[in-house]
Amino acid sequence: MKIAIDGPAGAGKSTVAKMVADKLGYLYVDTGAMYRALTWKALHDNVDISSGEALVRLLNQCRLELQSDSASQRVVLNGRDITEAIRTREVSNHVSEVASHPQVREAMVELQREMATKGNVVMDGRDIGTYVIPDADVKIYLTASLEERARRRYEELRVKGHEVSFEEIKQEILERDDKDRKRDTAPLQKAADALTVDTTGLSITEVVNCILNIVHQKT
Ligand code: DC
Repeated sequence: MKIAIDGPAGAGKSTVAKMVADKLGYLYVDTGAMYRALTWKALHDNVDISSGEALVRLLNQCRLELQSDSASQRVVLNGRDITEAIRTREVSNHVSEVASHPQVREAMVELQREMATKGNVVMDGRDIGTYVIPDADVKIYLTASLEERARRRYEELRVKGHEVSFEEIKQEILERDDKDRKRDTAPLQKAADALTVDTTGLSITEVVNCILNIVHQKT
């Protein structure tokens, strides 16, 4: 069974998708983490992120691993654990540009489709149900109000000790969504056959249970 979860920034996709995958014993693939890892590496190595060609060359030199255990998913690039490093604001604010290059997407989608052939999988991102695995058995469009998504992100950063302004975070989310929706190649959009789950006001457990119910109805 293949489960695709798409939606805008901060809707809780990664947290929820990982929990759903664990409950079902499925492989979890966080495709956003893949774009983030390449962005982190490009910023770290001073690679020009306006060049799709340079980014693909860089990607081809990287060994990117998504290592999952029951507690967490680790993102490992060339043997270095960059799980935390890819969640910074700097990476968040550059990742949409990196992900907008058709060559970059082509290379990433090839890796993602290969992972999806390995059997039962939960994959989350922006174009999973529309483009990466259009034959997914279950497609979820996970969303929440902008206020709520910004509030979650704001609190997440504050807990990590970052001094941030709520309005700035809200603006950054808005801009990232705008870029992800307006890009030419595989933009963020709800697949025609996806079910919308609005997580505004819901707890993580409630969202996970809602998705598990949808999955069970399919089986
Ligand atoms: O899910 P996330 O916020 O970690 O994703 C980071 C960025 O990566 C997102 O702003 C757009 C890009 N992305 C994408 O273009 N396609 C995907 N399938 C997943 C993420």
